[in-house]
Amino acid sequence: MEPESSQAESEAPAEKAVGEFDLESGTVLLNNGIEMPILGIGCFRLSSEEAENSVYWALKDGYRLIDTARIYGNEDGVGRGIQRAIDEGFVTREEIFVTTKMWTSDYDDGPAAIDASLQRLGLDYIDLMILHHSQPENDVAAYQAMEQAVTDGKLRSIGLSNYYEPEDFDRLISATTMKPALIQNETHPYHQSTVMKEHIAQYGTVMESWFPLGGRGNTQTLFNDEAISAIAAAHGKTSAQVILRWHLQAGNIAIPGSSNEAHIQENFEI
Ligand SMILES: NC(=O)c1ccc[n+]([C@@H]2O[C@H](COP(=O)([O-])OP(=O)(O)OC[C@H]3O[C@@H](n4cnc5c(N)ncnc54)[C@H](OP(=O)(O)O)[C@@H]3O)[C@@H](O)[C@H]2O)c1
Repeated sequence: MEPESSQAESEAPAEKAVGEFDLESGTVLLNNGIEMPILGIGCFRLSSEEAENSVYWALKDGYRLIDTARIYGNEDGVGRGIQRAIDEGFVTREEIFVTTKMWTSDYDDGPAAIDASLQRLGLDYIDLMILHHSQPENDVAAYQAMEQAVTDGKLRSIGLSNYYEPEDFDRLISATTMKPALIQNETHPYHQSTVMKEHIAQYGTVMESWFPLGGRGNTQTLFNDEAISAIAAAHGKTSAQVILRWHLQAGNIAIPGSSNEAHIQENFEI
């Protein structure tokens, strides 16, 4: 007979492992203990008005992850879309995970950049802020400003974007304290980021894909790919849906960009 303790253990719900994607709940546990949605709406190249609508439609469809950046010039629109959704009562602030990025020209005054993003978004805290690009001359100082903002309760998680060499990632983390929760790099079936994904896994850092569908103006190459089209036809799905499902199964958080209400809905039905 099994000892009681191990029986009890086998009945207890399994603990989630850091970095493991849960496709049922649509979340991943970050290395700071925070759960993050794995599928979101991207806002690159959207006007403030378009971003407001895309964010609102996405939240209505069930998305809980939003990706913007100071340099997109639409944080105000993103904030309005969130507020509309909250005002209409189908989502609460706590259920939404908002990401924005600090632009390189702001790295010398990180604290001011963080406060300005909070103000434009109309939020008391940001769920994730990432440095938009590697910039060795001052990205450590910018990252340290984000670390301080986590301590101050202005940011919940911090990470990086556009760090493509393991040595560059290590340069930054060896000079700072909090391990990046994620790294957002160009990643899609033609550019799978395998080396960086293997490297960051030792820190519990996860990959987030920008250009998940190949990027605005370039999506047709991926959509018409023979293998992707064949999988789509076999499963009664669109190429976009197959690619997004691939990201999640490969362990990439995906943030497809769209200003089209039907595409936004389609991209969530995967
Ligand atoms: N960190 C960085 O440096 C960086 C760089 C680039 C992007 N990003 C982030 O990553 C997000 C995603 O990248 P992205 O928006 O540039 O490119 P993407 O998601 O790869 O592709 C967006 C394009 O796909 C189209 N699209 C979306 N869903 C579709 C569907 N179901 N069927 C057909 N077409 C569809 C969109 O057009 P419609 O509007 O017509 O749907 C748009 O033209 C950005 O929005 C941004 O948040 C970050």
